[in-house]
Amino acid sequence: MVTTKTKKTVSANPPALACSNPMWGGQFKHAPADLLAKINVSIGFDKQLYAQDIAGSIAHAKMLAKQKIISEADSKKIIAGLQAILKDIDAGKFEFKTALEDIHMNIESALKERIGDAAGRLHTARSRNDQVATDFRLYVRSAFDALDAALKDLQAALIARAEENAATIMPGFTHLQVAQPVTLGHHLLAYVEMFDRDRSRAADARKRMNESPLGAAALAGTSFPIDRHFTAKELGFDIPMNNSLDAVSDRDFALDFLSTSAICAVHLSRLAEEMVNWSSAQFGFIRFSDSYSTGSSIMPQKRNPDAAELVRGKSGRMFGNLIALLTTMKGLPLAYNKDMQEDKEPLFDTVENIMVCVQAMAGMVRDFTADKKRMEAAAGSGYATATDLADWLVRELKLPFRDAHHVTAKIVAIADKKGKKLEELTLAEMQTVEKKIRKEVFAVLSVQNSVKSRTSLGGTAPVNVAKAAAAAKKKAAK
Ligand code: ARG
Repeated sequence: MVTTKTKKTVSANPPALACSNPMWGGQFKHAPADLLAKINVSIGFDKQLYAQDIAGSIAHAKMLAKQKIISEADSKKIIAGLQAILKDIDAGKFEFKTALEDIHMNIESALKERIGDAAGRLHTARSRNDQVATDFRLYVRSAFDALDAALKDLQAALIARAEENAATIMPGFTHLQVAQPVTLGHHLLAYVEMFDRDRSRAADARKRMNESPLGAAALAGTSFPIDRHFTAKELGFDIPMNNSLDAVSDRDFALDFLSTSAICAVHLSRLAEEMVNWSSAQFGFIRFSDSYSTGSSIMPQKRNPDAAELVRGKSGRMFGNLIALLTTMKGLPLAYNKDMQEDKEPLFDTVENIMVCVQAMAGMVRDFTADKKRMEAAAGSGYATATDLADWLVRELKLPFRDAHHVTAKIVAIADKKGKKLEELTLAEMQTVEKKIRKEVFAVLSVQNSVKSRTSLGGTAPVNVAKAAAAAKKKAAK
């Protein structure tokens, strides 16, 4: 709970009798202007970092005692006080104060109220600059872990539906025109591959970012004999960051999360768009149960795929969040600048939205039922086996592919004129275009035989799909 009430008007002048911030106000005679407070205060959003802030402070306090920079007794008091604050915040029993600006000063001030003067020793050999960089890294690191787990679950859902639909025939499209028959399993496994690369991007970034900025202090390091390896280890970082200026001033790890999420959102939006199409009356390929359908307040017949539309739509704000932070960071001189406080809201927003999108997508994948008859019928429309006919002419009559393409185009034109499917043409009708065509050609004109024949590596044949699903299952479980 944030304590300031929203005021109707905001005064540009400092309030006459109010006090300055007790955490840094030594040389200040009065409180900041309301407008400075309004633009400066971050507790409304950075309170989300409380657990990371406390973890960082506990590691720092332990290290200060170990290095004999503060006494063992003070360190113990500080740690117990911080643990009690953590408990209270977890239980919703902590009052966040806007007058204390941000999460760091809210916690330090509460610590002072609880344990007295020892609290003042916690900030030795540390600055809010390395503190916030540490908190934010810890937060982004767990966001990467949560994203990976959610993507893994989405992959499991897709793989299960792919196994079940390894031989379910549907039209494959290019330009959203029926192109060649494929299987639904193959189509779903295409997304498993995309999410696999998203996971791999997340894993790369997580590994790269897992270094500790703590101990960089304000920007230049410190004259105290701190042990940065110790705090790094305490916080699960692989090593301390090399350069103190870099440690407090880069936010590329947050950009990595935002870009990984933006790319993942692109993948999600494509599957979402297909679900919107497929669940329409015109396609009629899939149906969502009541769990994933919404009604219309005016049109009683409607079953709208709102969740899929929102997964598609939320990609927009996630791209925006990436651009926002890129733009904030661009051109900033080293080291810390307050502009960087703008790193948190876009990141928090993307974390919340990418998680709900991945989870909702897994829900939809598990939920839909496929109308296999309708999908197969659609695969047979639009002369989807024309390429199979051309390939037969190459294989059996030894025509060059370009000539086979022309012959096939002419046969398609005849079928079109007569309102027939390719396999409904008579042999005599086909022979008017190429007299060497034999009755065996009909075998390749069915959609089942078309998909069965596509056994090349990565192709859509049901045997391939079954194998690919098993392999994906093994890989995704890692
Ligand atoms: N709230 C600040 C942020 O998020 C914390 C760091 C403030 N540092 C400073 N030197 N004013 O960036």
